[in-house]
Amino acid sequence: MRYASITDRLAHLGSGRWALHITARRMKAEGEDVIELTIGEPDVAPDKALLDEAARAMHAGRTRYSNGRGEPNTLKALVAKYAKRRPGVTERNFLCFPGTQSALYCVMTGLVGAGDGVLVGDPLYATYEGVIASTGAHMIPVPLRPENRFHMQTEDLERAITPEARVLLLNTPHNPTGAVLTAAEIAEIGEICRKHDLWIVCDEVYEQLIFDGTKFASPFDMAELAERTIVVASISKSHAAPGFRSGWAAGPAEFCDKLLPVSEIMLFGVQPFIADMTALALSEHFETADVMRENYARRVKIVEQALAGSNLVKPVAPEGGMFILLDVAATGLGGEEFAWELLKQEKVAVMPGTSFGDQAAGFLRISLTVPEDVLETAITRIGDLAGRIASQREAPLNVG
Ligand SMILES: Cc1ncc(COP(=O)(O)O)c(C=O)c1O
Repeated sequence: MRYASITDRLAHLGSGRWALHITARRMKAEGEDVIELTIGEPDVAPDKALLDEAARAMHAGRTRYSNGRGEPNTLKALVAKYAKRRPGVTERNFLCFPGTQSALYCVMTGLVGAGDGVLVGDPLYATYEGVIASTGAHMIPVPLRPENRFHMQTEDLERAITPEARVLLLNTPHNPTGAVLTAAEIAEIGEICRKHDLWIVCDEVYEQLIFDGTKFASPFDMAELAERTIVVASISKSHAAPGFRSGWAAGPAEFCDKLLPVSEIMLFGVQPFIADMTALALSEHFETADVMRENYARRVKIVEQALAGSNLVKPVAPEGGMFILLDVAATGLGGEEFAWELLKQEKVAVMPGTSFGDQAAGFLRISLTVPEDVLETAITRIGDLAGRIASQREAPLNVG
């Protein structure tokens, strides 16, 4: 049978990136005792009030069709949230989606097509390349360098821009590196986007998970970038509710109006009972994000302390998010090979850096979403494997 070209473009960009995670899950299902540090699944439950609200709304008949833009209560809550960041926003600046992922997919569909280029920092979140490729556009990687703590540098951005470039896809706080862009960095990046007339799409799904000493900043909050910035985000991380699939896009009213039919045709609206729960999540303060933030910051310290004496495995301290990168290049193995050996020999599942682009090839991404004792055991095993690999490498030299 014949299929559309999108199936070829995405053939190697789907779950292949998660092959190690899928293998680890299969091993666990077969009874093996695997420590899983792969995906970013919050390890706390959503607040009970939110679960109660979703159930109440369902029982109250909020199970009918919605509309393409979003339920009025969610839109009102979004206006209130974002008006603190950009005074004057209205409901016309928002569209609701089932999660950041579908928001991003729809937004990209509205901005680029075949022949266009999308600039994105490398390392990058594992689905970005597929989202870009789905539109027929191509990805233009901008290297994010460990020596700059993976913060995008303007000279790297300038160097990457081609005549086809239409969009810069930013992610702050960043997955997998944990980098959080400063207001000054965003202003400089924004200046380049203005010069080259680029849209800025900013994935802010980790907005609430920023560690002490670092401040959140966004192009959305800068008046001079308002006409070209679209934010995508959700309650998946902030409220530990990824399964509810509730997110949004925030951008210029004209853009949202233009994207509305795309969203309507794609989704036919979101789920009203989840919209009610989302409206509540956005309107009141819940402690879920505070708890996660404290947990993850503490676990970063645990990893750093455990590896303090190692010259084979070096952590890169994140400024936010749910992950920490470990540089294992000094072992002589790439991140991909190391991760598979780790699963095989030590029963610890981590994401190989290669799942997030070329720049992360020498790294492992560790999820911080497990209890401390489990994390400590995993780090000990990573250190043990690194030691064995390094000594095996050195052994022939010693003999010779
Ligand atoms: C950077 C980034 N963007 C988007 C997503 C997906 O978020 P959502 O559950 O809102 O679709 C994730 C999930 O891990 C992520 O890390």
